[in-house]
Amino acid sequence: MHTTEELQQILDTAIQNLKFPDQPKQLYEPISYIINLGGKRVRPLLVLLGTELFGGNARESIHAAMAIEVFHNFTLVHDDIMDNAPLRRGKATVHEKWSTNTAILSGDVMMVEANKNLAKVNPVFLKDVLDTFNETAQGVCEGQQLDMEFESRNDVSIDEYINMIRLKTAVLLGGALKLGAIIANSDKKDADLLYQFGENIGIAFQLQDDILDVYADPEKFGKQVGGDIIANKKTFLLLEALTLAQGENKATLEEWLNKKNFDPQEKVAAIKQVYSNLNIQDIARNSMDAYLQKALTVFEQIQVDDSAKENLLELTNLLMAREY
Ligand code: IPE
Ligand code: IPE
Ligand code: MG
Ligand code: MG
Ligand code: MG
Repeated sequence: MHTTEELQQILDTAIQNLKFPDQPKQLYEPISYIINLGGKRVRPLLVLLGTELFGGNARESIHAAMAIEVFHNFTLVHDDIMDNAPLRRGKATVHEKWSTNTAILSGDVMMVEANKNLAKVNPVFLKDVLDTFNETAQGVCEGQQLDMEFESRNDVSIDEYINMIRLKTAVLLGGALKLGAIIANSDKKDADLLYQFGENIGIAFQLQDDILDVYADPEKFGKQVGGDIIANKKTFLLLEALTLAQGENKATLEEWLNKKNFDPQEKVAAIKQVYSNLNIQDIARNSMDAYLQKALTVFEQIQVDDSAKENLLELTNLLMAREY
C-alpha cells in the first residue's frame, strides 16, 4: 500500500506523461492548458485509493485515474461556458482565452482522450469499467442540464437540488472510487458501498462548493467569487434563503432574482446580506456535515481492515475543510 504522498507523486508523473497530438494547435493547446493549471486532483486520487482499499496496487488503476481526470477537466471547460465563468484555477477559462467554439471542440476531444485512457485498463475489467464510466458520465450531463434549467425556476425544492448535485458532482466521486474497486477485483457489494460513500461525500463536496462560491477568499479560490449569485444558480444557500425569508428579506431576494440589469457586485452584496440575516452559512454547513456522517456510516460497513481505510478517511477530512 502506498502513502497518499506517494500516490500523488504517481499521479503527477502520469499527468505529465499524458500526450496529446500537436495539430491543430487550437484544438489541443487548451487541453494541456487546463490540465496543467492543476487543481486538487481529487477524483484520480479516489480511483487509486479505491484500488488500494481492497489490496490492489494503484499502478493497476492509473489509466482509469487519468481517464477520470481528463473527463473531469472536460466537464469544467464546458461548465465554464455554461456558467459564463471568467476564471478557473486562478487563470482565464478556455472559452475566454480562446473562444467558445474552441472550448466546445477541445472539450469534445477531451472526452475522446478520456476514453483512450480507459481502453488501456486490464481487459478483464473493461466491461465493468466502461459500464461504470458511462453511467457516471451520463449522470454528469443530466445534472448539468438540471442545473441550467433551475436557473430560470424559482420553485426548486431542496430534494430536487440534492438530486441535481448528486448527478452533476457526486456520481463522479462515487464512480471514481468504484472504478478503483472494480480494478482491485473487490467484492461487488463492497464496490457498491464504496460508491455510496463517494456519492454522499460528493454531495457534501458540492454543498461546500456552493458555500465557497459565496464566502471563499478570492486569492485562494481561483474562481470568480459570487458567480452563483450573479447567475441565479439555485444553490443550497439560495434555496434555503427562499424558504426561510419573510418580509424585507423576502422582498430583497425577489427583487434581485428578477432584475435583468444590475451591477454584479451590488447584487452579490445584497444577497449576502440576506444570507447573513438568516444564518444561511451555518445551515449549509450542518447539511454538509449530515452528508459526511451518512458517508461515514456507509464506509464502516465495508469489509476491510481499519488500517486500509485510513488514507480515504484522511482525504475525506481534508476535503471537508478545503478553502478552494
Ligand atoms: C470543481 O471541482 C467542480 C465541482 C464539482 C465543484 P474541483 O473543486 O475538484 O476542481 P479542481 O479539479 O480541484 O480544480
Ligand atoms: C460543477 O458545478 C459541476 C460540473 C463541473 C460538472 P459548478 O458549476 O458549481 O462547478 P464550479 O464551481 O464551476 O467549479
Ligand atoms: Mg461552474
Ligand atoms: Mg455549473
Ligand atoms: Mg461552483
